[in-house]
Order: sequence, then C-alpha cells, then structure tokens
Amino acid sequence: MSFGTNYRAPTTSPIEVIILKGVFLCAGKGTRMRPISYSTPKHLIPLANKPILQYNVEKVIDAGITEVGLVVSPEMESLYRETLGTSKWGASITYIHQEDPRGLAHAVACARDFVEDDPFLVYLGDNLLHSGLTEMVGNFEKEEPAASILLAPVDDPERFGVAEIEDGKIVDLVEKPDHPPSDLAIVGAYLFNQDIFPAIEQIEPSDRGELEITDAIARLINEGRNVTPSELEGWWLDVGRPSDALKANRVLLEEVDGSIEGEIRNSQLKNRSEIVIAEGSRVENSELRGPVHVAEGARIVDSTLGPHVSAGEGVKVRKAGIENSVVMDEARIEKIELTESLIGAKAEIRLPGDQIKTIAGNRAQIVDERA
Ligand code: G1P
Repeated sequence: MSFGTNYRAPTTSPIEVIILKGVFLCAGKGTRMRPISYSTPKHLIPLANKPILQYNVEKVIDAGITEVGLVVSPEMESLYRETLGTSKWGASITYIHQEDPRGLAHAVACARDFVEDDPFLVYLGDNLLHSGLTEMVGNFEKEEPAASILLAPVDDPERFGVAEIEDGKIVDLVEKPDHPPSDLAIVGAYLFNQDIFPAIEQIEPSDRGELEITDAIARLINEGRNVTPSELEGWWLDVGRPSDALKANRVLLEEVDGSIEGEIRNSQLKNRSEIVIAEGSRVENSELRGPVHVAEGARIVDSTLGPHVSAGEGVKVRKAGIENSVVMDEARIEKIELTESLIGAKAEIRLPGDQIKTIAGNRAQIVDERA
C-alpha cells in the first residue's frame, strides 16, 4: 500500500510531544464473546497469558502516551477497576462512563472532559496491532492535522470503515459500504484534535442506529480539514468472537521467545524455542508442543499440551490433552481432550472415573459461574 507523497521519513530533529492522552473504547458488552465475557470483560481476556488491554496499553506507552482514559459501561467499571485500579502497566487509568451504547462517536464524545484541550489518541480496546502507532503519533505531531487514521488493506472491506484515497490523500470515508471504494479498512486507532467534537455533534445515527466515528471524520474531510492516513505495519487482529481470540492467541504465542524457568520432570518439549514455562510452575510426565505458554504456579501432569495453548497462573492440568486453547488462571482440567476452547478462570472440568472425553472443534467455552 502506498499513499504517495503524504509520508515523510522520520527526522532526528526534536518534535514537541503533544499527545499524552489515550482514550480506550471498552464500553461494548462483548455479546459475541459470551459466555466468557460475563466473568471476564472482553478486553481483559488473556492471550498468551497477557490481557488484550495490556498489549494495547504497552503500545501506547511506547508511543509516549501515559494517561489512559477507559470508556466503559457503568455496570462493567468494577470488573475493570478490580484488575487495573488507577494505575497499571506504566499508565495512569481514568474511568469514563458511556451510559448507553450509542456508537463509537458517542463514546469519544464522553471523553471530552478527560482530554481537555489536548490532541488525543482513540484506540478500540479489542483491536490488537502489530505496530505503526509510534510512527502515526510522530507524524501527527509533525504535521498537526485535524485527524489521523490508520489504514490496512483487507479482503473484506465491507465489514469495516473504508477510505477512498486520491493522490495519497483521503477524499472520503464510508462505514461498512455495500460497494467499497477501496480495500483500505480503518484500523482501530485514531488521532484527533478538538475539531472532532463539533463534527460528532453534527452527525446522525447510521443504519445500525449508532453514531459512527467514521461519519464524524468524513465530515471533517468534507469541511476541508486535513485528515492524514497512516499505514499499519504487520498484523492487525480485531478480537470480537471466540474464534478471533483463539486466532490472536496463536499469533501472539508465536511471537513469544521461549524460556524455561519452571521445573520439568520426565517430560518432552517439542519446538522448545517456542515454549515458555514460567518460574514456579511444574511440568511432569507430560509432552509440550510449542508454541505453549505455561504461567507461574501452573501444574501440568500426565498430559499433552499444544500446539498453541496458553495456561494461566495456577492452572492445573492432569491426564488431559489440550491444543489450540486459552486456559485462564486457576482453571482445573482433568481427564479430557480439548481443542479450540476458551476455559474461564477457576473453571473445573473433571470427569469421574478413568473415562476420557473429547471436546473438539466446537469452540467450547467453559466458564465457572462463580468466577
Ligand atoms: C469499528 C468502526 C470501523 C472500523 C472497525 C475496526 O467497527 O466503526 O470503521 O473499521 O471498528 O475494527 P465495529 O467493530 O464497531 O463494527
């Protein structure tokens, strides 16, 4: 993908850092991720044993942003607060309420007091980006446009906001068009100055009944404001459904460097360079097929794990086989073969006797209602 002359190579001259605040939109109810999202908010689901939101907060910190505002629905705030408090992963956290789910533009408007008069980043909390954010922020700080968006070519642009580009400039944006003007989808990271707020006030709900941020940005373009595109580098994962979470888990597990700090007894490690066994965990009489990530305090006994399995802190697996799955903290799994499953924190899956049961290929989600 090329945007022609719109790009400038990074320079070494100091640029004033003007974007210090990032607004994460996390108010969606995660209905497509039920039942797991009843106990773990979608954005806190651990992938390769790290919450989705942590990857994103780390990315914005790399881009120089340390003040994070989380737009959440009021009933979900306590679940986020329990895990994140007011400061986490190097960022300060402020909670912003979106009372009704009236769309992304409405969610951005809810953050108006938080961002005050400064330009700011908006990040869709369930998008995972390989890279491109730091450059995007750098370019914004040099050029000071009204808005900047991140674009990536996709095979199915009708599912996204889509940009129409002419001579390296964005000339229009459309949300989920039946006939996309290009294959360039809007990725879930945006930079704005204050001009976005009056633009949001002027838009009407879309066919799906939401105030679309795409429509507000299109309005800026139509008013002649400068809206610059940035190019996404590497992968982009939009984690909406359980199958997306499993896919993202696979991608992220493949990025982790192997390290063995836990105890291994009488076990085989295949594809060892992609296996993490954290300190304080134990693997006994088992076979691990990387990529596999075993977190602190986990016990894997008489079992086969992997490929593409993450087992959270304190997980216990005995006489079981698990592949392509996310097993959250303190889950307990015995005498079962599992694949393509999301197992909720503290879930217990045990069968009586020596019978071994298989849950395979059905994207099973097993959640402990007490969690
Ligand atoms: C939202 C935006 C869309 C963007 C997408 C990226 O869509 O409206 O423009 O391309 O996020 O994930 P939604 O996830 O609300 O369907």
